[in-house]
Amino acid sequence: MKNIILFASGAGSNVQAILDYFEGKNIAKPVAIVCNKAGAGVLNIAEKHDIPVEMINKERFSSEDFINKINTYNPDLLILAGFLWKIPSALVEKYPGKIINIHPALLPKYGGKGMYGMNVHNTVIEQKEKESGITIHYVNEHYDEGNVIVQAHCTIAEDDTPEMLAQNIHKLEHFYFPRAIEFLLK
Ligand code: GRF
Repeated sequence: MKNIILFASGAGSNVQAILDYFEGKNIAKPVAIVCNKAGAGVLNIAEKHDIPVEMINKERFSSEDFINKINTYNPDLLILAGFLWKIPSALVEKYPGKIINIHPALLPKYGGKGMYGMNVHNTVIEQKEKESGITIHYVNEHYDEGNVIVQAHCTIAEDDTPEMLAQNIHKLEHFYFPRAIEFLLK
């Protein structure tokens, strides 16, 4: 059984999909959820599943104490599932090749600072793209620039709204993210 730590600060639908997928499978144990947002939906999920939560602010996130705390969980993979802060380089150095992120677009397009949530989908629709998708990638010191692990595409119809695109993207994420994690852990 491998230990995974989930970093999330949003609704947590990806976290939920990951927990559901690994439930009863003896592959991955979610040992902690790291969150920087009081009241985030993902905190309810953590409580329901009895998963320890590490709340962070910017100061704690970049402290040695925090890295030491992460080490105590003995993680095999650090998974960013709707987490927006840049990962401190000390943490990247401590877990090389063991931190992954999901981005709701086909990187290198529509990535980087400010490109998150509905901003991404609004821009993709504005640009009249015929397709979008998701990118699961390794995390390095730069936003959305680590090596790509997998991408999945969806087509965009002419009258699709950003909201419809967001829904389609979430479906892709919920399907591919747990499976990519399983692949990496095996
Ligand atoms: C996802 O679209 C993910 O790609 C992005 O943040 C969103 C999180 O959604 N990085 P949720 O909190 O998992 O519902």
